[in-house]
Amino acid sequence: MIALLSNIEMGYDEVGAGTPVLFVHGFPHDRSLWMPQLQGLTVQARCYAVDLRGFGETTAAPPYSMDQYADDLAGLMDVLHIDRAVIAGLSMGGYIALAMWRRHASRVRGFVLSNTRAGADSEEGREKRRTMMKMAREQGSSAVADAMITGMLGKTTRAKRPEIVNGVHRMISSAPVDGVVGGLQAMMDRPDSTPTLATIDVPTLVVTGDEDALIPIEDVRSMHAAIRGSSLEVITGAGHLSNLERPAAFNHLVSEFLARLSFQ
Ligand code: MLT
Repeated sequence: MIALLSNIEMGYDEVGAGTPVLFVHGFPHDRSLWMPQLQGLTVQARCYAVDLRGFGETTAAPPYSMDQYADDLAGLMDVLHIDRAVIAGLSMGGYIALAMWRRHASRVRGFVLSNTRAGADSEEGREKRRTMMKMAREQGSSAVADAMITGMLGKTTRAKRPEIVNGVHRMISSAPVDGVVGGLQAMMDRPDSTPTLATIDVPTLVVTGDEDALIPIEDVRSMHAAIRGSSLEVITGAGHLSNLERPAAFNHLVSEFLARLSFQ
């Protein structure tokens, strides 16, 4: 479906009934990342999966920023008359979730922060982003997919689940170059969200995979430690895309989290 926001058209899916959950993909994905959640959580949740600007069906020229992405989510919630939602963000989606808290805290019912971290990029990290921007501009998104696919998925998935490897490669290859370049710039420029963590006072589930090679588990642990009352779950045999690599385990965790939320 397409929602008309004040300045962009935003692609999204909506299924299920219950607590609204807004699923926010990472970089450089699109809303199809959340297919297993939209198939598996419809009894407990009204699930929304959105295409961030520059990805999927949400076309918009860069520049982008984490604040802009967060404002888009709040804009979509306005259009769809969602007062508050659980924000479930994976990786860059988690960076956006933390921006959402800074700018639109009253719209947040809780967080699922998956395979993500609070810190900003290091100078070395920024340099890698510049290299990837150049690659995207000169060789297109399929070169980005080739470069990212190994880090994107855990070793178990890479060894045993070729359909997931191929599907993720296809998703990244089909990402518009504008979206890729704009997303890289937005991540490079993002602020350090560490000071934000102590201000979070909504129920928060932190999830990662024990084979995530992109986000060090120490970063995830310190994010969890800094969010009062949060819980941390580490899914075994999953890499950076834990929701896609071990969907049943991921959905079980989210489902239990939503059940607890309904008593709070
Ligand atoms: C993501 O999956 O969103 C990105 O890998 C995050 C990042 O590069 O920092």
